[in-house]
Amino acid sequence: MPGLFDPIEIDSLSLKNRIVMPPMETGKATPEGDVTQEIIDHYVKRARGGVGLIIIEHTFVMKNGQFSTRQLGLYEDRQIEGFKKLVNAIHEQDVPCILQLNHAGSRTTTEVIGEQPVSASDVPLPTGGEIPRPLSKEEIMSIINAFASAARRAKEAGFDGVEIHGAHAFLLNQFASPLTNKRNDEYGIDMAGRMRFPLEVIQAVRETVGRDYMLFYRLGADDMIEGGNTIDDGVKMAKLIVNEGVKVVDVSGGLIGSRPPEMKPGEFVPQAARIKKAVDVPVIAVGKITTGELADDIIRDGEADLVAIGRALLKDANWPKTVAAELGLE
Ligand SMILES: Cc1cc2nc3c(=O)[nH]c(=O)nc-3n(C[C@H](O)[C@H](O)[C@H](O)COP(=O)(O)O)c2cc1C
Repeated sequence: MPGLFDPIEIDSLSLKNRIVMPPMETGKATPEGDVTQEIIDHYVKRARGGVGLIIIEHTFVMKNGQFSTRQLGLYEDRQIEGFKKLVNAIHEQDVPCILQLNHAGSRTTTEVIGEQPVSASDVPLPTGGEIPRPLSKEEIMSIINAFASAARRAKEAGFDGVEIHGAHAFLLNQFASPLTNKRNDEYGIDMAGRMRFPLEVIQAVRETVGRDYMLFYRLGADDMIEGGNTIDDGVKMAKLIVNEGVKVVDVSGGLIGSRPPEMKPGEFVPQAARIKKAVDVPVIAVGKITTGELADDIIRDGEADLVAIGRALLKDANWPKTVAAELGLE
């Protein structure tokens, strides 16, 4: 089995090691969602620190899908220029980068978007928040188009691929979970119905950017809330998205979010390992992985192909170099 510092080829992507910077919102965009120099500096620092791949923080695809006031957005063509600068600066460090695309659904507020948040049904999240307005089929179609247009802009900006955000209680996760999707039409009722919208987003993105373009999906593989999706459902969802053309499954939590209370080291690794056994594409594991030893074990034990190092990379931008030294590598 390869280790943490062994390279990996995933279709068109060549990574020098298995360390991924997962998407983490910086809150440093302009109020319009545009790229700032502060954002460029933040990512260049981690690229210099030795990560194999950077997945840029969640970026809203249309205005009523904005999560917070200083979040990145890519909902207009005029924004492509700023993203080009970000991509070029990361590529200069010889690190590939992927852009995460998102619609917040009900995980935003009227204050941020200036209107009532939308979702699958008029059910608030189990973790709280406003009562959303259920989306009409026409609105679902316009969000699918917004994801596809944002992916086209990301490709024009030079990103090596895009990641669709289907985790952490955001809109696509709200459709996928039986706790938040109470619809009685073709976008609800059972797993096939609840996954219809996420799968249609994947299809539209693939049709727009082409089948060869790198496509990741951040999967809310386990709601960890009574009555929600379990990891058995997560395995089924992973098969559905891979069947639709997703090339890398980035496994994380569902409605429980990315950082459940009392999180333990390697929190979502068992879910990644289950999914890895069920699909034939690379899988990313995440969850409070802070030591080189744990990260290396996850790869060597075959639990995942890549590991995402989140908060540890925020703390130490040189984390890959630090742990390589600890493991006795150059
Ligand atoms: C400040 C912060 C912002 C985050 N923003 C995002 C995001 O934009 N998209 C996403 O999928 N996950 C986001 N996450 C979750 C991380 O990608 C990661 O899954 C989580 O922090 C667990 O990994 P860790 O324990 O290594 O930090 C964020 C986490 C943090 C700490």
